[in-house]
Amino acid sequence: RQVQIIGVPMDLGADRRGVDMGSSTIRYAGLADELEAAGVETTDAGDLPVPRAEERDPETVQPNEGSAKFLQETAEVCTDLADEVAETLDAGQFPLVLGGDHSIAIGTVTGAARDADIGVIWFDAHGDFNTPATSPSGNVHGMPLAALLGIGDFADTEWANAPNLSEENVAIVGLRRLDDAEREAIRESDVTAFTMSDIDERGVVPVVEDALDVATDGTDGVHVSLDMDWLDPKEAPGVGTPVRGGVTYREAHSALETVAERDETEDILRTLEVVEVNAILDHHNETAELATELAASALGKRIL
Ligand code: ARG
Ligand code: MN
Ligand code: MN
Ligand code: MN
Repeated sequence: RQVQIIGVPMDLGADRRGVDMGSSTIRYAGLADELEAAGVETTDAGDLPVPRAEERDPETVQPNEGSAKFLQETAEVCTDLADEVAETLDAGQFPLVLGGDHSIAIGTVTGAARDADIGVIWFDAHGDFNTPATSPSGNVHGMPLAALLGIGDFADTEWANAPNLSEENVAIVGLRRLDDAEREAIRESDVTAFTMSDIDERGVVPVVEDALDVATDGTDGVHVSLDMDWLDPKEAPGVGTPVRGGVTYREAHSALETVAERDETEDILRTLEVVEVNAILDHHNETAELATELAASALGKRIL
């Protein structure tokens, strides 16, 4: 497998500045070396251009869009990213996308789904199921799953509403914080959601096995979206929206090794992205280091 790293220094979808440095810090933590050690060849496409918040006005650029800050800029970045991901796949390479905030998943998944039916595993404390009409924050990083599935205001949003992705093939893993409207929308949808309680009761490996069954059922490949706030803030302090009670270091590795094992036998993994690493809030780059390790686990790193 030949991995192409694609950085997206995007922070327009989140309140806390610092997540724009995520892709740099993950590279600095030694991503390429870690992957080479795991027997994976890498190339680096660099970072996609992302407008700075200071040069744009969050409110006036989309006067009729309700509460979704920088939606026009997000559309531009995600359209670029979708092209980059689709081109990378066309060239026979594996796209590894480094955020940036979680709004970029709209681009990654749209690109991954351009020429294939895909499933998605969404490792996250949050549902990211808000729409401009329901969002309490207006931050697009709380909306990417709803956008990709064309929910609510996103029904006619061409750049967001992913072709070849259906709710039946989406599994959220590790949920522990939802806004009221998101809870309602997830219940009404055909998305499968595994909460932290499911992980407590059953263990992380059986839950991830189930998520893999959901995402592979009738699809050509799986996109794994890893929001670092999925982990407990004790393990991953460098995130903008931490929630107590997340998975441990060991559980996180087990989960991604479970993905890698399924990939080894069934060749299911199509794209991977790691998002929400916030350099300003991190302690000695440890969240970026953990992001690096988890990417290597997903891509097949083994101790023996
Ligand atoms: N639900 C909250 C919101 O919509 C938080 C979203 C956090 N999302 C994330 N990708 N970290 O604003
Ligand atoms: Mn290109
Ligand atoms: Mn999250
Ligand atoms: Mn998220």
